[in-house]
Amino acid sequence: MKERGNFGSKLGIVLATAGSAVGLGNIWRFPYMTGENGGAAFILFYIGCIFVLGLPGMISEFIVGRHAQTNAARAYDTLSNGKPWKLVGYLGILTSTIILGFYAVVAGWCLQYVYAAMAGKLVGDAAFVKTYFVTFSSHPLRPVLCGVAFVLITHIVIVNGVQKGIERASKWLMPILFVLLLVLVTASCALPGSMEGVRFLLQPDFSKLSNKVMLDALGQAFFSLSLGTACLCTYASYFTKETNLLRSAGQIVMLDTMIAIFAGLMIFPAAFSVGISPDSGPSLIFITLPNVFQQAFVGMPQVGWVISVMFYALLVFAALTSTISMHEIGTAFFTEEFHLRRRHAAWVITILASALCLFCSWSVGAFDIQLLGYSLMDFCDLLTANFMLPLGGMLACLFVGWYIPRQLVYDEFTNGGQCNKWFFLTFLFAVRYICPLAITLVFLHQLGWI
Ligand code: TRP
Repeated sequence: MKERGNFGSKLGIVLATAGSAVGLGNIWRFPYMTGENGGAAFILFYIGCIFVLGLPGMISEFIVGRHAQTNAARAYDTLSNGKPWKLVGYLGILTSTIILGFYAVVAGWCLQYVYAAMAGKLVGDAAFVKTYFVTFSSHPLRPVLCGVAFVLITHIVIVNGVQKGIERASKWLMPILFVLLLVLVTASCALPGSMEGVRFLLQPDFSKLSNKVMLDALGQAFFSLSLGTACLCTYASYFTKETNLLRSAGQIVMLDTMIAIFAGLMIFPAAFSVGISPDSGPSLIFITLPNVFQQAFVGMPQVGWVISVMFYALLVFAALTSTISMHEIGTAFFTEEFHLRRRHAAWVITILASALCLFCSWSVGAFDIQLLGYSLMDFCDLLTANFMLPLGGMLACLFVGWYIPRQLVYDEFTNGGQCNKWFFLTFLFAVRYICPLAITLVFLHQLGWI
């Protein structure tokens, strides 16, 4: 087998993995999930899940990936000497391809909005912007083309190698996205009547809690961290022996959470200010943001124009660094296991994801495609985020906590006794007991058994 690539630098490692984590999950999914689940109380659960379950889960995947230095399925296979644990890898590959399919639909919407913002089509009141979104997303062809185009862009990056272009671009574009987000948070909070939105985000109202809040928070936490599909395991296989797993995971988790909270602070104050209901679902950001751009920069339309174009362009970029990671899992698997050329392996995933993207896009627009009472898109979203990811994450924790030799886990966690020794037992306790139990309890709660 040819020499496996490594990420170029320390910063590159964190950025590429953070690039996978930060994406539409933070800026599109987190706000609408928060809106649907009543605000601050959901956020509390979410943060709990991120730190108590997400962080140990992420480190577990890192340990498996870096130790095995190979694709997700073979990593589990090697470490378990051929026992059925490789199914965890298969589960991850399946999950990430499904996610890629519906994620591309939303990424395609963002692509369209770059164009719409550039052409000045998003100018008008809230009702107008809403109509624009509905008209576009229910067209039988246009949103599909945008979504499939997005999968193809991902394909091109994957085939040409992740290292140079993406690593370098991330170093510049991620910080710009961050700064722009801060500008928009300020602009949004300065709108009249926006404080209502800030309160919605920061003041928990436990009476609004429904029984699905916990599972939604768990699913969102795993989705946002890219956890549970062996995606992090695949990325960790490109880490070096010096990478401090605990520190890297901590940095990524903090960054990811901060960006999600900022996205909330950008969207809800504006939504309340223009009178859009916080629980308007997946279209939330596509309807509120154009209003922020207009109202916040009312005397300076050019500034509003530049910021809106830049914002959607950066959103596209953030989505791309995430779709790359989903695509890479399957591509690495088909390349190494079926001895395909990377180019050919990538086509397998691209074709599967594009087909799913087509049907998902139709299901929320032109045609009524339903499964178990949900549109196909919502069905894929809920099936993966609320079921497959927590399951995958739990299995990763069980694998690291109980199955593989403790010495191996210790060596990976501490880099051979060099760092993080004091945290090892806490980590072990978390992956052995806390994560599996907590995830099982949330599942049982959802089923109404407890
Ligand atoms: N975490 C990404 C986001 O927040 C989405 C993502 C990328 C993902 N790779 C993943 C989700 C793998 C689950 C599994 O947008």
